[in-house]
Amino acid sequence: MFTTISDLTPSPTAGVTGAADAGLLPLARRADGLVGSVIDSSTSLLAGQKHDIVRFAMGAPAPDVTPWETFRDLAGDVYDASSFTYGATEGEPVLLDQLAKYTADKAEPVDLDRTVITTGGMQGLDLAFKLFVDPGDLVVVESPTYTNGSGTALSYGADLLEVPMDADGLDVDRLESLVAEAGRVPKAIYTIPNFQNPSGVTLSHERRLRLIELARRWGSIIVDDDPYGLLRFAGEDVPSFPQLMGDDPLLYSVRTFSKILAPGLRVGWVTADARLRQLLINSKQAMDTCTNVPNQHVVAEFLRRGGLDEHLAGLRVQYRTRKEAMQEAIAEHLGDRVRTTDPEGGSSSG
Ligand SMILES: Cc1ncc(COP(=O)(O)O)c(C=O)c1O
Repeated sequence: MFTTISDLTPSPTAGVTGAADAGLLPLARRADGLVGSVIDSSTSLLAGQKHDIVRFAMGAPAPDVTPWETFRDLAGDVYDASSFTYGATEGEPVLLDQLAKYTADKAEPVDLDRTVITTGGMQGLDLAFKLFVDPGDLVVVESPTYTNGSGTALSYGADLLEVPMDADGLDVDRLESLVAEAGRVPKAIYTIPNFQNPSGVTLSHERRLRLIELARRWGSIIVDDDPYGLLRFAGEDVPSFPQLMGDDPLLYSVRTFSKILAPGLRVGWVTADARLRQLLINSKQAMDTCTNVPNQHVVAEFLRRGGLDEHLAGLRVQYRTRKEAMQEAIAEHLGDRVRTTDPEGGSSSG
C-alpha cells in the first residue's frame, strides 16, 4: 500500500534505522511509514569525515555566509529570563510582531490571524500532513521531490502520486491525467514552487494558475513549501501561491528562516486558513510545546534591527556566483554526459 523511500531514491538506507530493525517490539502500524531521511542522515555520516567535503545532500546555506557573529552579539543584548522559559505555542509575540512588520510591504504580508511559528519548515510540513492525510489518502508530489517532505507524507500513511517535472516545474497536464488514471482525487498537492529542491526549476505562472484550478476542482490542499523564494538571483519573480490565492482555505504555506538566516535556528512559520490555527496550535502542543524560545528572540531582534534585506542581497550575489562556478565545473568535467537545469535562485553550501 505504501510507496517506500526506495522507490524515490537510489540509496535510501545509509544511516537510517527502520521498523524492520526494531524486530519483535510491539510497534504501531505507522512505524512502517517512518522511512527516515537519507538527506538528514548525511549530517551524522559527515561528522566522522576528516577531509574537506562539499556537501550536495542538503540545501544548506553556506557556513561562511551565515551571520553567526551577529547572532552571538545580539543574543547578548536580547536574552533575559523570558528567553529561557516555555513560550507561547503559536510563537513569541515579539517574533510574530517583527515578522508582520518585516513583511508588511512585501509580496507576502504575514497575517497573524493565520500564522503559527514552527520549528523550521519541516514542522510546517509535518503539521500539514498530520492534519490533512489519513492512511491511504493520495498525495501528489513532484518527481523528483524533497524526500523529507514526501517522507513526512508517508509517515501519515499517504499513497504518493509522483508527477514528472520539466523546465517549467510540475507537469500539470500529466497531473490531471495521472489523477484520472488513479480514479480518485488527491487530498493534498505538495509543491516546492521556486528553485525546487532538488531540481532547481521554478513552476511557471501559467502552471500555478492551472494547479490552483485543479486543486479547487478536486478540493485538494496545496502544500506550498517555499524556503528559497527570497533567494532569487536571476529572472523575474513569479506570483506566489499566497498572491494568487489570497486567503483561500485550500492554501497551506510553509516558510522558514533556515535558508535566509540559518537552519540550526530551527525557526519557521506556516500560514493557513484562520479556522485551522487552533488545530495547528493543538497539534504543535503535542509535538514540542513551543519553538525554541532563545532562537525566536534572536530572529526577532535580527528583524528589528533591519538587517534582513541587506543580508538577502548579499546572499543572492554569493549564490549566483556559486551557481556559475558549479555550471563551469560541470561543463568542464562532465560536458554533455549530464543534463543540467539553470536555477534562477536558491542556496548552496558548496
Ligand atoms: C524544499 C524544502 N522544504 C523544507 C525544508 C526544511 O526546512 P527547515 O530546515 O526549515 O526545516 C528544506 C530544507 O532543505 C527544503 O529544501
